Amino acid sequence: MNLTEIIQTNNTCRFYRDEDVSDEHIEKIVSAARFGPSGGNRQPVSFIVVRDKTVKDKMQALYLPFWNTYTQAINEGMVKLGTKDKRIVSAADHFARHLAEIPVFLIVCARLADCHATDTELDRLSIVGGASIYPAVQNMLLAARDIGLGTALTTLLCHVEPEIKNLLNIPKDVSTAAMVTVGWPEKPFPSKLQRVPVSEMTWSETYGNPFVAE
Ligand SMILES: Cc1cc2nc3c(=O)[nH]c(=O)nc-3n(C[C@H](O)[C@H](O)[C@H](O)COP(=O)(O)O)c2cc1C
Repeated sequence: MNLTEIIQTNNTCRFYRDEDVSDEHIEKIVSAARFGPSGGNRQPVSFIVVRDKTVKDKMQALYLPFWNTYTQAINEGMVKLGTKDKRIVSAADHFARHLAEIPVFLIVCARLADCHATDTELDRLSIVGGASIYPAVQNMLLAARDIGLGTALTTLLCHVEPEIKNLLNIPKDVSTAAMVTVGWPEKPFPSKLQRVPVSEMTWSETYGNPFVAE
């Protein structure tokens, strides 16, 4: 597969076959993560490979209340969905209710002191620290797709970081940035993903001035 094909078909996998993923494959995708950029090359990211069903059950139990709050808001009409959104929510509901059956959870950890956040003094949400974390995660997702493994990135469990840190013995100076589920997809990868066109997300010279490729 070429890189463009990998990027353009790398969807969120919410249905998995009941089939294990080898350590060799996990090592390969984590190795791809290593090559992501990070501020000052401080490489703050590490991963915990979770296969233990008892631990995954506990994590699913922590995940479900947050997911249920969202679906309840939908059922009560507080969140309005289009037809495509309904399909995503239905798949995400299956994902939530079968979470612990997915063979591998990769917990993305980050040493905050090494995240090189340069925007913490601004009067807004700090986002720069994530720039030293998520490129590594994306590399991992792409490497998984290359092998034929499905992945889903979720951040819901960050709501309960203290519980997750306790469960996985994560040190004080390390935070959780996401969880990535890994397994063999039950359904074929899509031929394309729903994304906004370049013309709606690319500006020329100043924000809002459409970029037109010559
Ligand atoms: C920060 C973040 C959090 C996400 N959290 C969840 C989640 O809790 N549950 C879930 O099913 N998908 C989650 N997703 C997956 C998104 O729903 C998915 O990327 C989006 O719908 C596009 O899906 P596609 O790549 O399959 O087209 C998350 C993605 C990101 C980037």
